Amino acid sequence: MTVGQLDSSIVKITNSANKSEPLPNDKLNFGKTFTDHMLTVEWTAEFGWAVPEIKPYGKLEIDPSCCVLHYAFELFEGLKAYRTSDDKITIFRPDMNMKRMNKSAARIALPTFDSEELISLIGKLIEQDKHLVPEGQGYSLYIRPTMIGTTDGLGVAVPDKAMIFVILSPVGPYYKTGFKAVRLEATDYATRAWPGGCGDKKLGANYAPCVVPQLQAANRGYQQNLWLFGEEKYITEVGTMNVFFVFKNTETGKKELVTAPLDGTILEGVTRDSVLTLARARLSPEEWDVNERYFSILEVEERAAKGELVEAFGSGTAAVVSPIKEIGWRGKDIQVPLLPGEQFGELTKRVSEWIADIQYGREEFKDWVRV
Ligand code: COI
Repeated sequence: MTVGQLDSSIVKITNSANKSEPLPNDKLNFGKTFTDHMLTVEWTAEFGWAVPEIKPYGKLEIDPSCCVLHYAFELFEGLKAYRTSDDKITIFRPDMNMKRMNKSAARIALPTFDSEELISLIGKLIEQDKHLVPEGQGYSLYIRPTMIGTTDGLGVAVPDKAMIFVILSPVGPYYKTGFKAVRLEATDYATRAWPGGCGDKKLGANYAPCVVPQLQAANRGYQQNLWLFGEEKYITEVGTMNVFFVFKNTETGKKELVTAPLDGTILEGVTRDSVLTLARARLSPEEWDVNERYFSILEVEERAAKGELVEAFGSGTAAVVSPIKEIGWRGKDIQVPLLPGEQFGELTKRVSEWIADIQYGREEFKDWVRV
């Protein structure tokens, strides 16, 4: 018997009685307010994907024995819609998020789906609430697709029921401080991800255990963890983001943009991929190497001492790029240079502008933007 495929053409739309007024941009805190509608689609092993529903934003009802509540059958995505200067609403690289969402689902035995159908459903959902997509650089509509296992009962097994839901949050800058360089604590007292684990998947279960180390770092005056791995103290990620460093070889004068390789422990960030793709397309290969390779905090420490550490930044959908100014390591702070009087380095600024120009429709690049 063939089971139902996810099908955006049969969506059932129930309008909300509520039509919210957009909040002023300075009142938009990341992920605190949501639009008037949400999308839900239920799945059963027997019948496949049911009729998708766009309906008023509201509570979900699940049984207390539901498998998501006990064994973390949950995964999510984060992507954004932008209001462009010519008043179109676009989504940035949604195919990448859908691909990753399917990989996350497959990893925890939840059902996969046709990516284009969910992109189309997200488009229809945004259409309902399009007046709530904020305007202006740094402002956007954060889209949070989520999938949960909904089988009732305490046996640990493949869920035979699941649900996708999508909610939308008008957002401003992720950090309350805005585009301001952060202090990190190089963290080897806790491990975010490990070989053979699932650190490359966007599972909720990867996030909760990182909050205590974040608090420990915060108690010592650092905003985020710089996650290290292994004896070698490899640099893997920062907070909930991928991380990039820029070094300059003082002998040859050549610069290197470097980030950790996708070895199964690193989230396959869409912004990470965008930074690498744009850097490879736009930085002159005579002056720059763009590398995905292992590098350690020991290398950063050594190269900072030689004057070869040029800049560093985190990359993620929520903050896009987040400049780094200091790294606490073994009782000392490694200083990361910033441009004089600024909160960012030169490449950090350029990369953030490259990406913003594409997101806000001032420039086209490949097929990265969907109207
Ligand atoms: C991102 O940087 O886009 C994230 O994944 C952060 C999110 C967990 C709020």
